[in-house]
Amino acid sequence: MLNILIKNGHIVDPSEGLDGTGHIIIENGKIKEIALDSGGKKEKSRPIKTTPSGRKALRVFEAHGLFVIPGLIDMHTHLREPGYEYKETIKTGTMAAVSGGFTNICAMPNTNPVNDNSSVTDFIIRKAIQEGACTVYPVGSITKNQNGEELAEMGIMFSEGCIAFSDDGKPVMNSLIMRRALEYSKTYDVPIISHCEDSNLTEGGVMNEGLLSFTMGMGGIPSEAEETMVARDIALAGLTKGKLHIAHVSTAGSVRLIRQAKESGIPVTAETCPHYFTITEEAVQTYNTNAKVNPPLRARKDLEALQEGLKDGTIDVIATDHAPHHRDEKRMEFDRAPSGISGLDTALSLSLKLVQEGTITFSQLIEKMAQNPARILGLKKGKLKVGHTADVVILDVHKEYTIRSEQFLSKGRNTPFDGWNVKGKPVATISKGKLYEW
Ligand code: DOR
Ligand code: ZN
Repeated sequence: MLNILIKNGHIVDPSEGLDGTGHIIIENGKIKEIALDSGGKKEKSRPIKTTPSGRKALRVFEAHGLFVIPGLIDMHTHLREPGYEYKETIKTGTMAAVSGGFTNICAMPNTNPVNDNSSVTDFIIRKAIQEGACTVYPVGSITKNQNGEELAEMGIMFSEGCIAFSDDGKPVMNSLIMRRALEYSKTYDVPIISHCEDSNLTEGGVMNEGLLSFTMGMGGIPSEAEETMVARDIALAGLTKGKLHIAHVSTAGSVRLIRQAKESGIPVTAETCPHYFTITEEAVQTYNTNAKVNPPLRARKDLEALQEGLKDGTIDVIATDHAPHHRDEKRMEFDRAPSGISGLDTALSLSLKLVQEGTITFSQLIEKMAQNPARILGLKKGKLKVGHTADVVILDVHKEYTIRSEQFLSKGRNTPFDGWNVKGKPVATISKGKLYEW
């Protein structure tokens, strides 16, 4: 592994108080030195007295005009391996992650077999070490086979390396099981990531319920299908004091409920995804199955509430919910196609749009895509800090480009953003000390 010197980049890490031009030295996969020129945070500034010459070969990366930020952490990725390798593998999914600026990702358990036991957890961890371009943290299922009926062996999966539990893709409809999961999660201090959906209310639905679903003649999914479960889980988090994290928030009502819960001191955190704050249900008007996702794309008022929630801190995290599907599966009638959007390749550029529009600051973006996920997951990651694993993104915020799904490193080309012109792209990502350049 090459040692790396990143020169003259604009280093930004709000968690470390870093904001200024300087240098970073990476040695043996770890951050060895961070040195800001004058004007940065003084106590973190150390002039480079020596370069690691005479030790290992040094790669010098000239980052003038570029931002240097912590590697991003995706709390919500579907890697599909084991079982659905035709959609994505650990190898292709982690390559897509790294090209999108993510150096740590959480693999959701709805694989085949489901990650509901330690042998599947162990398989994912081993495979990711062998073939993964970035670090993969498995998320174990809450219930056996994600059936919602019987708790999985959370303790053993935690010992094997699961860092959170979720039945994502499906809700935990039984409130007693959810209560127990929140209670057990306290023992391990890990989050329960809740896919909030009342499956009785969503039955037969394929898009947001409203005037558009009515005129298109499609089954609707009301906002209340999400919000009733958000309200239930908040109540259970209040009861148990377990660590609740709400996945893929899509409605204005959910934002309100989470805001109120936080105000009253209930331990809840939440994420939303770029598609929910960038586009609305209008994207499915042409029966474009690449815009079919669960929860569905919502109305303008929901998009605005999500942006407000990101701005005021109600929504802690921007996650991708990267859900790759095969082209042939998406090439079907709208109501028969699977739900999901491939998000790793585009998440950072779409989130930077919020910064460009003045909705959130660049620091907030880093908080929501690195620092907060690390805090919620209890990881010593998401920071530019001496001694930490070298997970770093070198970002050109001015680079304009057109999203071309055929250029994705993910096998999943299912995106409603194909052909969009966006601004801001990683030019290099350093993952576990290894440099990837595009
Ligand atoms: O759209 C979705 N796709 N939502 C989910 O909850 C699951 C995911 C998938 O696994 O494809
Ligand atoms: Zn998901």
